[in-house]
Amino acid sequence: MNDSHIDSNCCQGSLDKKRVYTSKFNELFLSDEIPKHVTVFDTTLRDGEQTPGVALSCADKVRIAKALDELGVDVIEVGFPAASQGEKDAVKAVMDLSPTSKICGLARCVKSDVDAVADSGLNYVHTFIATSDSHLKYKLKMTQETVLEKAVATIEYAKARGLEVEFSCEDATRTSLEFLKKMHIAVQEAGVDRINVPDTVGTISPTAMEYLIRELKTVTKVPISVHCHDDFGMAVANTLSAVRGGAEQIHATINGLGERAGNASLEEAVLALMAFYNVETSINTKMIGPTSKLVSRLFGYEIPPNKAIVGKNAFAHESGIHVHGVLSDPSTYEAFGPELVGVERNIVLGKHSGAHSIKEKLHEYGIELDDEQIAQIVEKIKDLADNGKEIDDAELVVLATHLAEQRQSKHINLDEFAVFTGIRTTPTAVVTLDINGEKKTGTSIGIGPVDAAINAIKTVMGNVFTLEEYRLNAITGGSDSLCEVMVKIGKKGEGKAISVGKGVGSDIVQTSVDATMEALDRLYSRLE
Ligand code: KIV
Ligand code: ZN
Repeated sequence: MNDSHIDSNCCQGSLDKKRVYTSKFNELFLSDEIPKHVTVFDTTLRDGEQTPGVALSCADKVRIAKALDELGVDVIEVGFPAASQGEKDAVKAVMDLSPTSKICGLARCVKSDVDAVADSGLNYVHTFIATSDSHLKYKLKMTQETVLEKAVATIEYAKARGLEVEFSCEDATRTSLEFLKKMHIAVQEAGVDRINVPDTVGTISPTAMEYLIRELKTVTKVPISVHCHDDFGMAVANTLSAVRGGAEQIHATINGLGERAGNASLEEAVLALMAFYNVETSINTKMIGPTSKLVSRLFGYEIPPNKAIVGKNAFAHESGIHVHGVLSDPSTYEAFGPELVGVERNIVLGKHSGAHSIKEKLHEYGIELDDEQIAQIVEKIKDLADNGKEIDDAELVVLATHLAEQRQSKHINLDEFAVFTGIRTTPTAVVTLDINGEKKTGTSIGIGPVDAAINAIKTVMGNVFTLEEYRLNAITGGSDSLCEVMVKIGKKGEGKAISVGKGVGSDIVQTSVDATMEALDRLYSRLE
C-alpha cells in the first residue's frame, strides 16, 4: 500500500471491528486461502463507461480519476486508448494529475492497441482475448491455437515496450478448464504480471467461482484477479468467492456500473471483503459515499434508493421500533455505521414514525417541544401519510414551528366546512363556526374555492372583517408539498391589517381556512 493513501482518520487497511456489527458465524468460514491483502482495480472509467447511454467528457474522466485516487484504489483502468483521440487525451489528462493509483489502459491482443496504450504515456496495459468456444466460433472465428499465439505475442510485445501487463481470457467462466489452464501457463511464460479471470456474462455461481480460482491457482504463480458481471445479481458474491479461492485482486466499479447489469460494485465488494473476511485493502472507506455521489452525477445515473451502502435508504429508518433501537444503539438495525462509508443516517418520517424519531429530528434543528406537542405532530404525520404524503425535514420544521407558536385558548372554532367547485360551477362554501359555544352557519360563493371559503367565514361573522393580505408558500418543490398560508385581516372600513394567522397543511383550501380562523380568533380574543 502506498503511504500517501493513508489517512489516520479513515478505515484503510482493516476495518475497526467495533464499528461493524456482522454475524459471528462468518468467523467459522475464514480460511488460510483468503489473502490478507487484496488490491482493488477500478474499472469505472472503462467498463463503467460502457454502461448503455453513458459517454464521459475528458473533464469528467479527470474529476472521477481524482476521486478514485483519493478513494485509494490501487489501479484505475482509465479507458481504451485505441478507441479514439478523446480516450488518448483523457489518459494524458489523468496522467497529468500524477496520481498515486496506477493508471491502466485496455488493449485487444493487437500491437496497435498496445502502442496506443504506451504512446499515451501509460505504464500498465490490460490486454484481453476471448477464449470460450462460443466467442471463438461466433465472434473471433479463430482456433484455440491462434488465440493462444496472439495472447503470447501481445504480452511479449507489451513487455518489450516496458509495460506492466495484466491479461484476461475474456469469457473465462465459459471456457474449458483445460484450455484456460493452458492459456494461463502460456501467458506466464510470455512474462505476464497478473492474470484476470472475467465472468464476462455473469454466468457462474459463487461456489463454482471458488472452485475455478482454486483450480487455476494450481498452475498460476502470478497474482490472480477477478472481474465479475452482475447478470444474475451475483457479481459481488462471485467476487468474494474468488477471493475465498485465493484471488489477490478484484475488478470493480463505483455504484456497480458497467455493461448490461453492470460489474461488481466496489463499495459492496470492498466492505464485504473487509467485514466478512478481515481482508485489508487500500480503500479509504470514508470516501465511498462522496465518490459514489460524484460518479452518479457525472454518469447521469441515479443510485437506486435501496442500493446497499450508498443508496439513500441504506441508513434510513422510519418505523418507530427501528428508530428507537438505532438511537439507543446503532448495532440494533445497522450492519455498520454510516460514518464508516462517508454517508449519513436518515430518520424518515412516515406512517411508521414514532415520538422518538420526531423528537430526534427536531432536536437536530434545535426545536424542543413537549410530549403533548410531539404527540400532535405524530398524529398529523400519520394522517398525512395515510393520504399518501411523506414529510421531509423542511416540512417537519414548519409544522413544529407552527405548533409551537399556536395559541391555546380559542374563542372561535371551526365546526364544519365544505366547499364545492368544478368546471362551469361557481365555487360555493358552507361553514359552521362555534363562537363561544354558539353555532352559526354561513354560505358564500367566490372566484375560487379559497375565496368562497373565506367569504363564507366573513358571512358567518356578519361581514365585519376584511382580508387585507393572503400569502401562500409551498414548503418544498413537489405538487404534493405541504403549504403554508399566512392571512392578515382588518376591520371593515379601516383598511389596515390588525390580526394575523398562519396555517400549515397539505390542502390549500383547508389550510387557508385554518389560517383565517387563527387570525379571527386572535382578533376576537383581543376585543373581548
Ligand atoms: O467483462 C469482460 O470480459 C471485460 C474484458 C475486457 C476483461 O470487461
Ligand atoms: Zn467486463
